[in-house]
Amino acid sequence: MIIGTVKEIKNREYRVGLTPGAVYEYVKNGHEVLVETNAGVGSGFTDEDYINAGARIISTRDLVWEASNMIVKVKEPLAEEYKYLRKDLILYTYLHLAANKELTLALTKSGCTGVAYETIETADHLLPCLKPMSEVAGRLSAIYGSLLLTKERGGNGLLISGVPGTDRAKVTIIGAGVVGENALKLFVGLEADVTILDIDLNRLASIDKVYQNKVKTLYSTDENIKNSLRNADLVVGAVLIPGATAPKLIKRSYYSFMKKGSVIVDVAIDQGGSTEVSYATTHDNPTFVVDGIIHYCVANMPGIVPNTSSVALNNSTLKYGLLLANNSLEVAFSKSSALKKGLNTYNHKVYHEGVSSAFQLELSEF
Ligand SMILES: NC(=O)c1ccc[n+]([C@@H]2O[C@H](COP(=O)([O-])OP(=O)(O)OC[C@H]3O[C@@H](n4cnc5c(N)ncnc54)[C@H](O)[C@@H]3O)[C@@H](O)[C@H]2O)c1
Repeated sequence: MIIGTVKEIKNREYRVGLTPGAVYEYVKNGHEVLVETNAGVGSGFTDEDYINAGARIISTRDLVWEASNMIVKVKEPLAEEYKYLRKDLILYTYLHLAANKELTLALTKSGCTGVAYETIETADHLLPCLKPMSEVAGRLSAIYGSLLLTKERGGNGLLISGVPGTDRAKVTIIGAGVVGENALKLFVGLEADVTILDIDLNRLASIDKVYQNKVKTLYSTDENIKNSLRNADLVVGAVLIPGATAPKLIKRSYYSFMKKGSVIVDVAIDQGGSTEVSYATTHDNPTFVVDGIIHYCVANMPGIVPNTSSVALNNSTLKYGLLLANNSLEVAFSKSSALKKGLNTYNHKVYHEGVSSAFQLELSEF
């Protein structure tokens, strides 16, 4: 099979669909890999790195799209890329179709096979190709949030760890899933005073076992959230209810008793956010202030660490990409029911329930 990767054209998207390490694996499996010139440069990979891994560098984007049987990307195609969609192409990337009718129709019209990273789902309901981005975002929330506490960035001027004889910054993490747990790991390393809340007692129990008395775990009720926010210098919103918008657990009315200069890093912003005032911001202008509280609501946090994010993403997507490359769709799906769940569009039809119900399009069974 000929596999291609192109330079992402979305604003400030520096990640790349294939790292040189992934290219090497596809080539080892007998495939030819085409890489658009400078596709990986934003993630720190030169054309030479790709050539050394066995890829051919192609100077025009059109040619990569047209000559490839499978395109491996990061972001969904933008409108100017719809012209490349065709029936005998597999598009393997994040698609987020339930929120994008235009792209859904472009894919079904073209007959393109759209396999979405975010809907690949294992039997135990894990989303292996979403997890690495949550890991990155969780860890970044601790690093970025700690910086926002500095006076220079508008915060209340606390050093996250304090020093002997001073208070440590108080951190509240709402949601103890992948984002929450990764934020927690770094905050504990930074010696912050951390409280983490969730409605899943098993998650709280496993955190309690690992961190013991270094971390306070609380069952997530309105009362516990309010009490925790009262003292917090830094809050991380990390709740997810699969398939639904994020619950607004942090009410505007709570701001009256929260500390001025405290920071909310609302990681759940891509699902609407955890506060009543959250709206998505960009890396160009990541924060806004409401009632003296700093809100950081960047919807694509992993984008600022593209090297780590691209490698982490490839670590998860490569296994399923190789299944697609090495087998017919029938065989690939029979080998992996998780990958089958990634199928969103095929042969002009919709194969994912969420997409079908979002746009009242007929749901087909592969
Ligand atoms: N902004 C970004 O760049 C970025 C990057 C990655 C992920 N995210 C988003 O971060 C959010 C969290 O992702 P995740 O991978 O950690 O999800 P996850 O499913 O691993 O964890 C979510 C947690 O929220 C908990 N939860 C549900 N309702 C709750 C409530 N009322 N109170 C407290 N906890 C509750 C769940 O029990 C679960 O433990 C998602 O919305 C995800 O899309 C954003």
